[in-house]
Amino acid sequence: MKIQCFFNKIICGFLMLLFCSGATIAMPRWYRNAVHKAEHQMLYMISQTDVNARKCFPRTIKPDGRIQFVNDTDWTSGFFPGSLWLVYELTGNETLAKEARKFTNRLNEIQYYTKNHDVGFMMCCSYGNALRLKPENADTLVMVNAAKSLCTRFNPEIGLIRSWDSGSWNYPVIIDNMMNLELLFWASRQTLNDNFYNIAVAHADKTLENHFRENMTSYHVVSYLPNGKVESKGTHQGYSDESAWARGQAWGLYGYTMCYRFTEKADYLNVAHEIAQYIMSNRPFNKDYVPYWDYNAPDIPQAPRDASAAAITASALLELCEYTADKKLCDKYKKYAENILKQLSSDDYLAEKDTNSGFILKHSVGSLPHKIEIDVPLNYADYYFLEALLRYRQLKGF
Ligand code: GLY
Repeated sequence: MKIQCFFNKIICGFLMLLFCSGATIAMPRWYRNAVHKAEHQMLYMISQTDVNARKCFPRTIKPDGRIQFVNDTDWTSGFFPGSLWLVYELTGNETLAKEARKFTNRLNEIQYYTKNHDVGFMMCCSYGNALRLKPENADTLVMVNAAKSLCTRFNPEIGLIRSWDSGSWNYPVIIDNMMNLELLFWASRQTLNDNFYNIAVAHADKTLENHFRENMTSYHVVSYLPNGKVESKGTHQGYSDESAWARGQAWGLYGYTMCYRFTEKADYLNVAHEIAQYIMSNRPFNKDYVPYWDYNAPDIPQAPRDASAAAITASALLELCEYTADKKLCDKYKKYAENILKQLSSDDYLAEKDTNSGFILKHSVGSLPHKIEIDVPLNYADYYFLEALLRYRQLKGF
């Protein structure tokens, strides 16, 4: 009897220990370190920003070493408020939520912005996360209005949303544009108005038809004639018209995975799997998961890496795994994403506290052909890194 009681006590003690410390045991050290540094960096970044300044959103670091701030109409304006929301979600730090709300509200006017396709990025990252985490009454209407603004860029004869108003193309559509469809799918669910859904599906379908090559890499820019036929296929930010620009492949992977989330269309899931396959079989070296800025860059292995493409890919693969019935394949995506996250969380990519001007990650590329933002931090690399960390935590359950 006494022996039985002794063993019961040991088992109870062991279970108590496991219960009390379960979360800390399960969370890997690299992950905890990444979240801790991300929180620190966001607070440091806040100390360098002025929410009332016209250009209040940190985007990158300028060649002179100072932070480049941008105004609300810059395509990256939503990523800083978005990152604040995500670090709040990761840590529960209320200061970050307060700051996230202030920077989110600075994007209020963007609900009426119709001059580019990027309102999806701007509003889903800022107001979209606000709605999820600490909603306020006006948030939904702001997002619906933004979706209406995006729809003004849809031409029914061509069947696509126009990406840019600049340049010499007749009607340019870039692979990045897939990301902005999330705003339309969201608005369609929110309002029960099919128009948003139909526009998003038309855009995704026609992009699928014309943006992809035999090997399932995508062109960056496809331009259309007024009758809806293709005018040209090429690049703007990649190495060459026929090359595979790394971030473009990541946008395509994330975009079609997200489209599957809202539509359950097999075509979208299939293309996401094929892009994933290309990315995974064209990684730089063993034990290396951050791609060069372009898969066909001529100076590999000297070419700069793009941490932003890696972060977007990690986040997308973690979602794609959820829709993958084949457990082995799902595990492969999960493992690949984990390896990206581990590499980005190493000293090679993760900034030390109080360095990197407050950005979380180092070593991304904005536009190498334009000699802009080469081997620098970028606010969207940080955003998708944080989103991937959150998705990873949800998947692992710690
Ligand atoms: N959407 C612009 C870029 O990825 O650089």
